[in-house]
Amino acid sequence: MKKILLLSLVLLSFACKNKEAEPFGKQEITIDSEGMPASNQKPEELGEVIFNGKGNCTACHKVETKLIGPSVQEIAKIYKDKNSDIIKFLKGEGEPIVDPSQYEVMKANFAITKAMSDEELKALEAYIYSR
Ligand code: HEC
Repeated sequence: MKKILLLSLVLLSFACKNKEAEPFGKQEITIDSEGMPASNQKPEELGEVIFNGKGNCTACHKVETKLIGPSVQEIAKIYKDKNSDIIKFLKGEGEPIVDPSQYEVMKANFAITKAMSDEELKALEAYIYSR
């Protein structure tokens, strides 16, 4: 009886060890590098990752329908029509042209977008225009 107990203990600790010593195929690695541009990634793809990820833009913007903020398509259309600069807006240097009455709500996000690199802002713009 003791032997069996000992054996199963040994087996158990082996099983645990195996789990720990499994650095490959760990999904966390891909999640961690989210937002990090792979060298062959298109700007709009990076933009989508930021838009849905660390930018948290999807909390208020959906692609086709208005949520708290205007839809991505509406923003793209108005910015194209008026030939305006989304990057400038996201840096807090532009004027709201889509829905100025709600500007205060959007303004709170400049804390996030102002901290982004030009590459990230360009990617966001590319994503918005690609929808
Ligand atoms: C808390 C809700 C909220 C979040 C989060 C948010 N937005 Fe907005 N956004 C709004 C609202 C409301 C408006 C409409 C007001 C306006 O036009 O400025 C808006 C407007 C905009 C506009 C149009 C600005 C204009 O000229 O009128 C752009 C571009 C934009 N958002 C991009 C983004 C991006 C990119 C993110 C993520 C980094 C983001 N938003 C996150 C609420 C939000």
